[in-house]
Amino acid sequence: MGALEVREGFIELYGAEPEGVWAAPGRVNLIGEHTDYNDGFVMPFALPHVTTAAVARRDDGVLRLHSADMPGGPVELRLDELAPESDRGWTAYPAGVVWALREAGHEVTGADVHLTSTVPTGAGLSSSAALEVVVALALNDLYALGLKGWRLARLCQRAENVYVGAPTGIMDQTASACCEAGHALFLDTRDLSQRQIPFDLAAEGLRLLVVDTRVEHAHSGGEYGRRRAGCEKGAALLGVDALRDIPHDGLDAALADLAGDEEVARLVRHVVTENARAERVVSLLESGDIRAIGPILTEGHASLRDDFRVSCPELDLVVDTALASGALGARMTGGGFGGSAIVLTDTADVPTLTKAMEEAFTKAAHTPPRVFEAVPAAGARRLA
Ligand code: GLA
Repeated sequence: MGALEVREGFIELYGAEPEGVWAAPGRVNLIGEHTDYNDGFVMPFALPHVTTAAVARRDDGVLRLHSADMPGGPVELRLDELAPESDRGWTAYPAGVVWALREAGHEVTGADVHLTSTVPTGAGLSSSAALEVVVALALNDLYALGLKGWRLARLCQRAENVYVGAPTGIMDQTASACCEAGHALFLDTRDLSQRQIPFDLAAEGLRLLVVDTRVEHAHSGGEYGRRRAGCEKGAALLGVDALRDIPHDGLDAALADLAGDEEVARLVRHVVTENARAERVVSLLESGDIRAIGPILTEGHASLRDDFRVSCPELDLVVDTALASGALGARMTGGGFGGSAIVLTDTADVPTLTKAMEEAFTKAAHTPPRVFEAVPAAGARRLA
């Protein structure tokens, strides 16, 4: 849905013009999974799928939220009553952003918000971050808060961690806020320094497919938090601030120190090798060798499946089927426990691969996956 329709939806709903229309995208992550809360490296890129918001300010301390994708009329909240973990529904994300802005001392006195989204929900494609970032960007512009890039992303992460109560890292919000069309974003989550890496698949005769398994994932659920706590325990046992501080050539020594705590050792092995994979991928992309990243993506999947243990049978089936059909590489993307996988393939192999995927899912009696091509798109922006 374009800016015009969202604007019209706003007028119908609230009986007045919005002050503007903004969009923020979902993302896929190319490499660097479960590294962001370990101060490590990630490399997401934005999808063309966006959450769009028409917004107008209010000065009476009221926040009205409406989504064209949800049943019912606007939800009305009082700003002075917003409280962490008081809301379990979708409105917790935008309300959390308003809460986080006010808690950081920004003067936001209310808003009317009308939203619509093309980012699939529960698919590991960061629909939550898109929702947070679009609202944050709109309020930033309307209230002239002067927040940009990672500062906006940090506030959205705080909304998600504290208000929603999901202990996620900084990757998704930064991807939605900062990505650029035609590029992957190489982000050092320790100091939030960024490099935009040109990522032109078509020029190399390649495609990147996203395969949404339709197995819904959730991050406020305990498994994500348990992995995070396990990583923090590993860092504490090894006497470092974060697992980022264990260099790849120090891995064997670290694992020897962790002998006796097999579970933590496996988490540590994933994070240390994954950071190394992210660094290898970035240097291959910078030297123009996209094809060579395929096997590294696949290695990443094996590590997430066997060491970090966040895959699921459907994600493994995507990866196995893709590789058996000639893909250059494949891996789950995002938090895991369901959601989506990415597949790097020659353009000519796309039809065979898509067919093989459908057949494999039918044979295994899984719900058919949703397969689409991902081209790196723009980050959050004002549309009107
Ligand atoms: C989710 C979280 C991110 C990140 C990934 C795993 O998407 O929101 O912060 O931890 O999982 O890489």
